[in-house]
Amino acid sequence: MQRTPPNLDNLLRKATAARHGRAKAVTASETIRPPSRIIRTAFTDVVSQLLHAERATGEMCRLIAGRSGNPLADVLLNDQANDERHHAELYESYLARIGDIRPIDSRLSEALDAMRETTFDAEAIIAAFNVVLEGEAVKLQQDCIDRFTYPALTRIIQSIGRDEAGHVAFGHTFLKGAFSDMTSDERFGIYRHIRHFWQTAAAPPGETGSLFATILTRRRSRNTWPPAGIIIMPRCNALALIHESEKAPV
Ligand SMILES: [Fe+2]
Ligand SMILES: [Fe+2]
Repeated sequence: MQRTPPNLDNLLRKATAARHGRAKAVTASETIRPPSRIIRTAFTDVVSQLLHAERATGEMCRLIAGRSGNPLADVLLNDQANDERHHAELYESYLARIGDIRPIDSRLSEALDAMRETTFDAEAIIAAFNVVLEGEAVKLQQDCIDRFTYPALTRIIQSIGRDEAGHVAFGHTFLKGAFSDMTSDERFGIYRHIRHFWQTAAAPPGETGSLFATILTRRRSRNTWPPAGIIIMPRCNALALIHESEKAPV
């Protein structure tokens, strides 16, 4: 059965309005309080991963724009790709002032490759980045503000957070009813794909584990590594990918 096309007019109006209030990149004259020497590498590593995640999300939005089966959704996905590029530029301008951009974390890179190479259709891909990149990554950015109270970084992250709220809303609106005609096996298959993506990005670090993975999982100690399913389940429930009454598939 063909599902009712989602009403995206309102989101398109909001996305257009939001473009007028965009945050400015960090300039040479903005005051920067650089982190102390001890945490400098760990700090630039975390912010650099946020930059790499923005670049990858933008790339994925461009990849699926044109494949959503809905012309308005394609416009919004292109808008979103532009937002993500802008977010990446904001982080890049900040890191340029700090004086260091770190390479992408190998786990994050592996996870993003897995997401890029999927054979799932547009709905599943949008669900994956709604849950992981737009959902959990936004929390991660909030955690960064809480841990690193640097004014320029806070300004950037707060502005990015406002755009990301719009992206999450797009995912929820676009995906409303998208999984209702699927069998539970089909839905569970998409859930496992999303869980794999999260598990790869947020795998427990070894002895030399990165601060990035620690923040990603809001881990308190080596013995309390939160299972991937517990973290992503509320977002999967919200998209009706997994019903509240269903047990998490293994
Ligand atoms: Fe973003
Ligand atoms: Fe986004």
